[in-house]
Amino acid sequence: LRNIGVVGLGNVGLCTALCFANKGNKVTGIDLSTERISTIQNGKSPFYERNLTEYLNTAISQGNFSCSSNYASLLNMDFIFITVGTPNLVNGSTDLSQVRSASKSIAKVIGRSREFPVVVVVKSTVTPRTTRKIVKPILERYSKMKMGVNFGLCANPEFLREGNAIEDTLHPDKVVIGFDDERSGKELAAFYESFYGSDSKIILTNTETAELIKYANNVFLATKISYINTIARICEKLRGSDVKKVAQAIGLDSRIGPKFLEAGPGYGGSCFPKDVKALITFAANLGVSTELFHAVENVNAEQVEHVVSMVSRLLRRVKGKKISILGLSFKADTDDVRESPAIKVIERLLSLNAKITVYDPKAMKRAREVLGDSIFYSPSSREALMDSELCIIMTEWKEFTELKPTDFIAVMKRPTILDTRRIYDPWDFQGKTKFAGIGLELE
Ligand code: UGA
Repeated sequence: LRNIGVVGLGNVGLCTALCFANKGNKVTGIDLSTERISTIQNGKSPFYERNLTEYLNTAISQGNFSCSSNYASLLNMDFIFITVGTPNLVNGSTDLSQVRSASKSIAKVIGRSREFPVVVVVKSTVTPRTTRKIVKPILERYSKMKMGVNFGLCANPEFLREGNAIEDTLHPDKVVIGFDDERSGKELAAFYESFYGSDSKIILTNTETAELIKYANNVFLATKISYINTIARICEKLRGSDVKKVAQAIGLDSRIGPKFLEAGPGYGGSCFPKDVKALITFAANLGVSTELFHAVENVNAEQVEHVVSMVSRLLRRVKGKKISILGLSFKADTDDVRESPAIKVIERLLSLNAKITVYDPKAMKRAREVLGDSIFYSPSSREALMDSELCIIMTEWKEFTELKPTDFIAVMKRPTILDTRRIYDPWDFQGKTKFAGIGLELE
C-alpha cells in the first residue's frame, strides 16, 4: 500500500483518488479551489457521479483520504498523479497552464521531500511530448533534481467515462504507462499490478506514444459516432429502414464491435469535442492531413442542425410553439451539460422563437447556469409535457425510457415525439402519436 497524492480533484482526479483510497492506499488530494475542498471534506461530491458519495464517505471514515489546497501535504509520497484540467485554447490547441502550475508546485515539494523516489504521473489529457518537453523540465528546474535519478516521471492517460468513472477505474480495459526512465515505468506497473491483479492488461511504452494513445482512442470513438450518424441520415431517406438494425448487424462483426454505434444528436461532453479539435491542431502542425478528423467534427456539428430541421418538418412553423425537451446533459447519468447537444438544440430553437420547457433528472442546475431564464424548468417530465406540441428526447435517461405512449397522450396538446436517442420502440407509438426518430423512416 502506497502514499499517493492526486493534484486536481475534478471528475477524473476525485474518482481515481477514491478508488485508490478504498483499496487501502493513503491518498491526499489537492485542489486549488478551497470551496471544492470544503465540499469534499464535508463528504459531498462537487458533481454527480454514480457511487461517488458512498466512496467518498467510506474513504474519509477509514482515514484513507484527506484533501487540502496546500501542496505541502504532498511531502513523502510514492506517487503524485497530475489530474488537472486541460481545456482547449481558442486556436484548438491544449491549454497547459494548469499542468504547468501544478508541475511547478509539485517540484517545490518533491525538492523538499527527503523520501525517494517519488514518481510523478501525468494523467491529465495532454498532447504528445508534453510530459517530456514541458512537465519534465519544470519539475527538474524547480526541484533542482534530476528525473530518473532523484524522482521518476510517467504519462498514464485515463479512459474513464463520466458517470461511470468509479466502475471504469476499478475495471479498465487497459492501463497505459509511458515512461522515459525504466525504473519509473516498473514502479508504476508494479503498483497497478498490485491494484488490478497480475492479469491486468498493461501497455508499456514511451511517454509520447502513451499521450497519443489517449487521443487516438477518443477520436476513434468519436469517428464511430459520426459514422453511424451518417448512416442514420441514409436510413431516414430509405423507406422502412432503421439505423438500429444496421448498427446491430455491423456490430456483430467482431472487427467492428457493438459499442459506440448508437446514432443520436451527436457527441458532446468535455472530452470528445475538445480532443478531436486538439488532435486536428496537433496533426496539422506535424504536416499530417486532418481531413478525416474534420469530417468527424463537421458531421457532429451538422447533427444538431439536423435535429432542428426535423423539428421544423414535424411542426411546420416553430415560432410560438411549445416544445418540451426531456434531457439536458450530454448523455445519461451525469449532470454535465458541457457541449451538450441538448443545449445547442435549445439555443437554435429559441432563435426560431419556440417556447421551450425542459426537464432533466440531474442537470437542471447546470443547464440554468448556461440558459438562464430563456426557458421554463419543470419539476417532472409530466409537467414539462403539459400542453406541448412536440417532445424531443435529447438524453437517454432511464426514467424517460419508462414513459409510455399514454404518458404523452394524456398531457400533450398535439402529441408528437422526436426521439433523438432512439429509446422507444416506434411501433409502440404507431397509430397513437406522431413519432420520428434519428435514423428511422417509418413505412
Ligand atoms: C469519453 C470516453 O468514452 C472515455 O473513455 C474517456 O476517458 C473520456 O471521454 C475522457 O477523455 O475523459 P465521456 O465524455 O464521459 O467519455 O462520454 P462517452 O460515454 O464516451 O460519450 C461521449 C458522447 O458520445 C456523449 O454525448 C454520448 O451521448 C455520445 N455517444 C456515445 C453517442 O452519441 N453514441 C454512442 O454510441 C456512444
